[in-house]
Amino acid sequence: MKRLEAALSLVPNDCVLADVGCDHGLLCLAALQSGKAKKVYACDISAKSLEKARRALKDKNAECIVSDGLKNVPRDFTAVTVCGMGAETMLGILSEYDGAATLILQPQTQAKEVRKTLTEKLGYRLIEEITACERNRYYPVMRFEKGGGGLDDLQLAFGLHAHNPTDGLIKMCEMLKKKYSAFKPTEQSEKLLAEIERVLKSAEHANNQDITAESDGRGI
Ligand SMILES: C[S@@+](CC[C@H](N)C(=O)[O-])C[C@H]1O[C@@H](n2cnc3c(N)ncnc32)[C@H](O)[C@@H]1O
Repeated sequence: MKRLEAALSLVPNDCVLADVGCDHGLLCLAALQSGKAKKVYACDISAKSLEKARRALKDKNAECIVSDGLKNVPRDFTAVTVCGMGAETMLGILSEYDGAATLILQPQTQAKEVRKTLTEKLGYRLIEEITACERNRYYPVMRFEKGGGGLDDLQLAFGLHAHNPTDGLIKMCEMLKKKYSAFKPTEQSEKLLAEIERVLKSAEHANNQDITAESDGRGI
């Protein structure tokens, strides 16, 4: 699944969506056209970027707002998307928001830091996660809701499905394993490779369980 397609699939139905850093406005448009959002706030810090969204969203139930994060956005939104931004900018924006909207986040960097800050400091729970793939790059896309519920170390590093990995996560781990195995080992790369092995082992274990279930003579 592609990056913005994955983000759209995590947007709750019938929401008022604020898309922060909307740029071209394509996610806003798709959210309206799919019926997931009944209204969108297309927001960007750059007036020039927002012009693209304004053109894409002409005659739609959309307001285009120049805003640093959510600062200038009316507070009736029920979901927020922040995609294609570095973790530091994303977390700066979210640290200033004290509402309870659903958050759909696709950081370009430091997904671990995003999971950790949201669940340990900002009072959110990670509800769903997709490993999207576009042009051979892997992108974690996450949906958070307000409420408690922590993640263990492996989940902080590799996401909600670290103990029962999805196909996307397995492919990402295989790619990372290849990449880090090619480098001269360091303490950090060894630690990362050990964690990757744990995720891949969980996948093997899940597969083995499937085979056992198929061959134990029960069922049809
Ligand atoms: C790489 S684009 C991502 C566009 C789109 N969300 C996507 O994922 O394809 C990042 C956008 O975030 C905007 N941006 C950066 N910092 C921002 C901030 N603090 N508040 C709002 N928008 C910001 C930029 O102007 C740019 O249009």
